[in-house]
Amino acid sequence: MSEIKRSKFKEMAVYQIWTRSFCDSNGDGIGDLPGVLGKLDYIKSLGVDGIWFSPIYPSPNADYGYDISDYKNINPEFGTLDDFRQILDGAHERGMMVFMDLVVNHTSDEHEWFKESRKSVDNPYHDYYIWRKGRDNKPPNNWLSNFEGCAWEYDEGLDEYYLHIFAKKQPDLNMDNPKVREEVKDIMRFWLDMGVDGFREDVITFISKAEGLPNGIPMPAATGIEHYRHGPHLDEYLLEFRRDVLSKYDCFVVGESPMMTVDSALSLIEEGKDQKLDMMFNFQHMEADCIMTDWVKTPFSLRKLKGAMSRWQNGLYGRAWNALYIENHDHARIVDRYGSRDYREESAKMLAAMYMLQSGTPFIYQGQEIGMTNIELDGISECKDIATFNAYRLFKKLGFSEKRFMKLANKVSRENARTPVQWSSEENAGFTTGKPWFNINENYRSINVRDEDKDPDSILNFYRSLIAFRKENDVAIYGKYREFYPASNSLFVYERVLGSRRMLVVCSFKERSVRFDSPSGYDLNSGKLVLSNYKDNKIVNNGFLTKPYEVRVYLF
Ligand code: GLC
Ligand code: CA
Repeated sequence: MSEIKRSKFKEMAVYQIWTRSFCDSNGDGIGDLPGVLGKLDYIKSLGVDGIWFSPIYPSPNADYGYDISDYKNINPEFGTLDDFRQILDGAHERGMMVFMDLVVNHTSDEHEWFKESRKSVDNPYHDYYIWRKGRDNKPPNNWLSNFEGCAWEYDEGLDEYYLHIFAKKQPDLNMDNPKVREEVKDIMRFWLDMGVDGFREDVITFISKAEGLPNGIPMPAATGIEHYRHGPHLDEYLLEFRRDVLSKYDCFVVGESPMMTVDSALSLIEEGKDQKLDMMFNFQHMEADCIMTDWVKTPFSLRKLKGAMSRWQNGLYGRAWNALYIENHDHARIVDRYGSRDYREESAKMLAAMYMLQSGTPFIYQGQEIGMTNIELDGISECKDIATFNAYRLFKKLGFSEKRFMKLANKVSRENARTPVQWSSEENAGFTTGKPWFNINENYRSINVRDEDKDPDSILNFYRSLIAFRKENDVAIYGKYREFYPASNSLFVYERVLGSRRMLVVCSFKERSVRFDSPSGYDLNSGKLVLSNYKDNKIVNNGFLTKPYEVRVYLF
């Protein structure tokens, strides 16, 4: 029945590493590559097939690696190219692939290209970036930066402005310049030739800007976005990268794509000869407790979550492939968003099964597998992230005190995802023997890898079972998705069907008990319970009364 084309990239599960907070090997308080090397067996023990590294290139760290000053080297804080090659070999020996983050919408302002580019208007690198004259002493247009006010920075020497959709220290590359596209291809080849298995491409759908850079519709921190979120030459450039480089390797690319809908995504990820990206990270299911940005917080809405997920599940099935995630380095921890701190273990397991058993390739962010939580930072002086600083500037204008702002930041900011991984209950959570670069969550004494590793009922071991289950059951990978009870505010119920195999996933998002009745055509007593987060799994009248954040998965 399944016409879905099979591939190892569809069957894999991927673990994301944000190196700075993963594991420190030399006591300087900063996670590094030898630290990762020492944990390869742990990563393998999860059952994953690949590792995606958030950027590990040299970087002035204005945006912790997403501002790259040299694309063909390793950040000395993290180690050397040799350390990286050891990881590559170590991962490959263990049957795991390695994916690099490719950040080519922008570079660091400390990249050689940019330094040259600002030397003079006839410098050969000038046109590597988007430089424009102002309009009557004002910036060329009204675009706003995602990270700091105006999207244009004036350079007195040149009497021109350069565009930066993110921080000032992240000037946008001019992808319309064929030389820039050649540089991108050259970077891709460099890593692929070394043995890397593919890329996660950072805000890749922003690389083409509308002709003439017209003014945008005013909106906080994003004015102009309609002119670059899926620009006129995006499809063409991605196809060029595929034709000239990617198609020549056995490799994989997942694009990060804010503000995409199913329809706009399909032109990029639909399978067939013009497919540009293998998969895409969309953002719609990450907006079930906020509007447009994590900072505009609303109460969690299960219906919003289900609506978004089902839209992508149904819209892509048989045509394109989903990338599944509920955490990464850009969002607060999921138990504190869609789950419950009071039922941390139960809700972390439920959320894991809820997303990983959908159709798509699951990504797991470091610490997610042990149910790490948000952090309590006391003041702005404890913060590290440029996006948090930008939000502080904006919220202050709205009259927020520092205290009130921190209350919000502790719920929604990216800082929450960036605290060091909690390895053990030893000092500094076993992350470092020195002074950690960033606060460690005090709950490491009870939430850590070592303890969870020993506990058969831990979140960690639930993840392991879940990943193994998915791998062993085609229905969990290739089965067709159908949602039941879409109007329910309490339950997320769906099936996956492949040939004669059926899998039923029942998730409760409520602490209180809710009656679940099997959808028609299902006799629970004839199913096999394969995963659950409680010991007692009684069936009453072909259904059950849920326990807090209960999940059950049945196979038929
Ligand atoms: C992506 C990254 C984020 C970064 C931004 C600018 O959204 O995931 O961390 O700040 O792009 O590169
Ligand atoms: Ca270190």
